[in-house]
Amino acid sequence: MAYGQFEQFIRNMTRVMGAVNTKLQRDLTLRTRVARRFSMVEVAQLLSVDTTYLTRISGEDPAFPEGEKQGRARTFSPSEIMLIRAIIGSNKAAKRPYLHWRQDGTPVKVVTFGAQKGGTGKSLSAAHFAQYVNLHYGLRVGVVDADPQATVSLYFADANLPLFAPDTPTLADFMGVDQPGAGEVNNRSAAELDAIWQNTPWPGIKLIPGGANIQNGDISLFFMSQQSQVPVYRVLRDAIATWDSGTGPKTAVNDLRNSDGAFNTAKYEQALNETVDVIVIDQQPSLTLMQLNGLIAADNVVIPQTMKGFDLATLATYVSNIGEYLEFIMGFEADIEIGAGEHMVLPTIVQEQNTQDTDQILDLYRKAPREVMQVWYARSDAIANAAEEYKSIYEYLPPKTRRTSAQAFMQNANAVNDALVQRIWPDLPPKDFAKQFIEERWS
Ligand SMILES: Nc1ncnc2c1ncn2[C@@H]1O[C@H](COP(=O)(O)OP(=O)(O)OP(=O)(O)O)[C@@H](O)[C@H]1O
Ligand SMILES: [Mg+2]
Repeated sequence: MAYGQFEQFIRNMTRVMGAVNTKLQRDLTLRTRVARRFSMVEVAQLLSVDTTYLTRISGEDPAFPEGEKQGRARTFSPSEIMLIRAIIGSNKAAKRPYLHWRQDGTPVKVVTFGAQKGGTGKSLSAAHFAQYVNLHYGLRVGVVDADPQATVSLYFADANLPLFAPDTPTLADFMGVDQPGAGEVNNRSAAELDAIWQNTPWPGIKLIPGGANIQNGDISLFFMSQQSQVPVYRVLRDAIATWDSGTGPKTAVNDLRNSDGAFNTAKYEQALNETVDVIVIDQQPSLTLMQLNGLIAADNVVIPQTMKGFDLATLATYVSNIGEYLEFIMGFEADIEIGAGEHMVLPTIVQEQNTQDTDQILDLYRKAPREVMQVWYARSDAIANAAEEYKSIYEYLPPKTRRTSAQAFMQNANAVNDALVQRIWPDLPPKDFAKQFIEERWS
């Protein structure tokens, strides 16, 4: 029997790839995950407190972490920053909240990053958003990698996370559509769903890793849509609701102290991991049934989008395809409420040197001021470099020659995320990163 050249080619490549060490660079990144540390001044900025106040608390509260001494200065990891936030936030004298955890009864928020075009910065925007709300507000985040490429997973995985292992559950398992050929959704219990989340080195950030199995989800959903009346567009939405009903917040910030006022570290650790406050979904660049589920589950949709003419053409098809899907869903289920929060297009990889990109943003913004953000991600050399090692700008330790551009890009990421937070959580206290960005570019 002859299978032709292609079969031979695939067989050869399978053999070669089996012998190639793809793990080397990966292992290096995973071992040095979140190596960045923050100075007392930086921690004070993240918490929006005076450095003197922070120093005083560090002397007064025995639970306050030592940090690491670098010369006379002390530096802190993201985990230590979260602990400090909890110590200050649970202090009876605290005048405002520091740990912005959701309260019992508030449903988990779902924010989806998606676009039709490949390579527009979806994964990086999603990773930065998750880390920003963690560092700046202490939020516990569940990152869902909805892409078989597993890009966003690479920003969170450390050596302990079984990424790309065939039996590591993915979004398809969480949705109960991991068995192509099954006639129905496999409805898992809240506890079973909770066990699918993997821990990451970030404090209170969990991950459902991406993987090839996500494609099985599409096959399953397709057959279910043919066979029965399964509402195949809301499987994720329903799975999240089931998970949330059993694993919502139980511990309040006040519960983190014993009756004698001492900080209860064990209780804090448990509370940090008992639930998440927001789920961030990173979509793959196509509108499959799995991706449709990511949109229908979302309270807020963010479309990271490059501004070139051809790229905008894909935005046009993306939104019109979603429109058709929505029409179909409304016909199926007229009273479903989809996406109750704010939604926005986030311009990305903007070339600020020539005015073509920024003119395009201006034009779009004038036509749709609610839909198009005034803050964007500029093209940056620093991040291209950081992303080579799959490090976000919040954990990247730049070489000396790139310190300035890395600093500038972190300011940029802060501005974008501050703007997103203001739209997504109007009740959270804003920072002035977005305001500053807008003053600089729009005056
Ligand atoms: N602001 C930026 N400046 C320069 N390079 C960037 C910027 N944002 C993203 N990139 C680079 O562009 C590439 C694509 O980014 P990313 O993986 O986040 O996009 P994506 O939209 O998720 O891609 P995919 O469609 O494959 O899922 C990466 O190499 C990333 O480092
Ligand atoms: Mg991606």
